Amino acid sequence: MAATRASGTTAVRYGTMRDNVLALEVVLADGRIIRTGSRARKSSAGYDLTRLMIGSEGTLGIITEMTLKLHGQPEAVSAATCRFGSVADAVGCVIATIQSGLTVARIELLDEMMLRGFNAYQGSDLPEAPHLFVEFHGSPAGVGEQAQAFGDLAGEYGASAIRWTDRAEECRELWHMRHQAHYATGALDPGKRTLATDVCVPISRLAEAVTHAQALARELRLTSTIVGHVGDGNFHCGLRVDPGDADEVARIHRFTAALAENALRLGGTVTGEHGVGVGKIAYMSAEHGAAVAVMRSLKSALDPKGILNPGKMLPADDEG
Ligand code: LAC
Ligand code: ZN
Repeated sequence: MAATRASGTTAVRYGTMRDNVLALEVVLADGRIIRTGSRARKSSAGYDLTRLMIGSEGTLGIITEMTLKLHGQPEAVSAATCRFGSVADAVGCVIATIQSGLTVARIELLDEMMLRGFNAYQGSDLPEAPHLFVEFHGSPAGVGEQAQAFGDLAGEYGASAIRWTDRAEECRELWHMRHQAHYATGALDPGKRTLATDVCVPISRLAEAVTHAQALARELRLTSTIVGHVGDGNFHCGLRVDPGDADEVARIHRFTAALAENALRLGGTVTGEHGVGVGKIAYMSAEHGAAVAVMRSLKSALDPKGILNPGKMLPADDEG
């Protein structure tokens, strides 16, 4: 989580690992052990090495200890599922929700293919249509007001069948189902494997990004689910692939390349939470330009022999 600057369904309210790590103990390539940060909420002293390490994918040091922020359990929780006529309407509702300043604790998009996956996986009979799953945290009165305001907005985007619950058990079940998305994707096209990818774009461009991804999957005849932390502009495509089918593998590569390039065109990033690794190394220069050289300088200063996660995240010089 820390090494990839990861997040999840509640990041829209509580932040990602970037926001929730106060201090680290890190072992450097030469064996030195350093502490970055402190338990103070903020600091103006020196370079922010905590944030340098968070998201460095093990290329600058090995995190051996971390100090995390804690958040209080909310007094009241209210969650809902709502169905939309199209992904564009669902995303329109997300954009309006975020831009109106409503403090959602979670707001997740699931497209029609994802619902089909859940049905196949858990033997349910959910309507195979785009959905938003949302949750609000706060005082009972605050949560009630926010739920009302969200319901009004959702209505404007043609939402139907809005189902609310404030029972802890039902909220847990809802998020448990959401967190099975990877396995539910696996229930589609049995016998294949799932390639999960993610991009993140500015909220105002999210509808374009998601509809582009859906059209691309159709055009390339790929089975893809879409599920996402859309309050952050971040979404995942879960692509089913037969590794023995060279033509399908080639189409998958075309898909992931077009998805990443479109995210950059829209002013976003090629990965919102899963990281670069080797799979997205080819886009580092396109995303960061001259800043890649600065990253390389940091890498060679901290790991001159290149022993920490070699070959990951930073393209070799001759790869641009
Ligand atoms: C999720 C993982 C794949 O959001 O990031 O389900
Ligand atoms: Zn995710």
